[in-house]
Amino acid sequence: MATLPNFDMLLFGGTGDLVTRKLLPALYRRYAAGQVTQESRVIGIARSGLSREAYIAQAATAAREFLGKEFDADKWSAFSKLLDYIKVDAASEQDYAALGSALSDREQVIRVFFFSTASTLFAAITGNLAKAGLVTTLSRVVLEKPLGNDVASAELINQHVGAVFTEKQIYRIDHYLGKEAVQNLMALRFGNALFEPLWRRGLIKHVQITVAEELGVERRGQFYDNTGALRDMVQNHLLQLLCIMAMEPPASSDPDAVRDEKLKVLRALRPLRDRDVLIKTVRGQYKAGSVRGLPVPGYLEEADISPDSTTETFVALKAEIDTWRWAGVPFYLRTGKRLQDRLTELVVTFDDVPHPIFERPPTSEGANVLVIRLQPDESITLTILAKNPGEGMRLKPVSLALDLGETFKTRSLDAYERLLMDTVKGNLTLFMRRDELDAAWRWVDPIIAGWQQYDERPKIYIAGSWGPAASSALIGRDGFEWHDEL
Ligand code: BG6
Repeated sequence: MATLPNFDMLLFGGTGDLVTRKLLPALYRRYAAGQVTQESRVIGIARSGLSREAYIAQAATAAREFLGKEFDADKWSAFSKLLDYIKVDAASEQDYAALGSALSDREQVIRVFFFSTASTLFAAITGNLAKAGLVTTLSRVVLEKPLGNDVASAELINQHVGAVFTEKQIYRIDHYLGKEAVQNLMALRFGNALFEPLWRRGLIKHVQITVAEELGVERRGQFYDNTGALRDMVQNHLLQLLCIMAMEPPASSDPDAVRDEKLKVLRALRPLRDRDVLIKTVRGQYKAGSVRGLPVPGYLEEADISPDSTTETFVALKAEIDTWRWAGVPFYLRTGKRLQDRLTELVVTFDDVPHPIFERPPTSEGANVLVIRLQPDESITLTILAKNPGEGMRLKPVSLALDLGETFKTRSLDAYERLLMDTVKGNLTLFMRRDELDAAWRWVDPIIAGWQQYDERPKIYIAGSWGPAASSALIGRDGFEWHDEL
């Protein structure tokens, strides 16, 4: 991988979870791989009055924990020469002078501002950077999700940021787009002619997208309680996965060609209005249970969660895309915390043969199911029916299975490694455009409004299960089952 030009990466929210657990380890890995020059700089920015040494020590502890065996003390020590820390209260104009002095004489260096704070601070930070004269033509800004809380707040942030940075300088991050397996999905769909003729109504019965987590809300109780699973996961990660599954082949891999096609999918999502939300969505919240044999507390007992919170930690829903390709094909989406397994999977169930001439196996699953697994391992499996050996013509499902890790025998880049390097390179393909974000919120907002209108409280599920029974009923009403419940 080629070495990148020198850059200055300014990490707002520099003492937060994302920076210490994901961004700094990702930058370290790229440094260790020789992609980051010794003249580049990485500056953590936050309100705490920390010394540079204390910050580096804090970062080292987190990196060691996160990277495990990949942590190399010598390499870390070389990498830490790039690191610095500056105390800035994001909302205080005068604090930005300190940033100005750190960046003087570096106008000709690529400058990446990474906003890893609550999005309510994005407008203030942008304004203060502009007033301090820190936004150069070589600058770009990375905005962490969830961007805003609804369509109106997202639009306001976009207006403020858009007044200082051009759209080509704005990188709205959705780290799912940086996952190797998501790119593999693009490769599968658009690098092979095989699937394209089958990828449509009449040949596909239904599609399932599951992003299941074993973890609870960890140390992010306060953020999570104000956010919930719909805003935290569905509005961004699940809808982006849906877009990649459902989009038309773009004319090229050019960022806007890809984003134009994703946008069309988002705009074609059938709105869930009024009582639709009661029929086509399920909200859930976990109570105490056990995950992998270990007891875990319920959501209401977690730190920083209001004891009578009605925030959802689980969502299942049925989405429909009103286009020629997808009319009548349901897309079932499901995500939750404290579920039985960590699993991210896309499942495409193809239609049955129109006229069976052989004895059918006793299973309710379709004969041909394509499972694209993103996590914990990356694999692609296609089920076909084969003849059971022996007398008679009895068919049995068998799998054509491809384990991508095993095949390529190499560690794939972590999503943030790829995305951070993309911001330096100036490649916007894997980032959300303003209109995409707007379209995603426009679809999600009425769901939240519907839940409020009908006072739809979350259904309780036991930690370590696959969510509330209503989730199985949602898909069961259409005659299908979740792939893992078969
Ligand atoms: C984040 C959410 O965007 O994605 C978290 O805010 C969630 O709540 C995380 O845990 C899941 O990401 P991954 O890469 O671990 O699947």
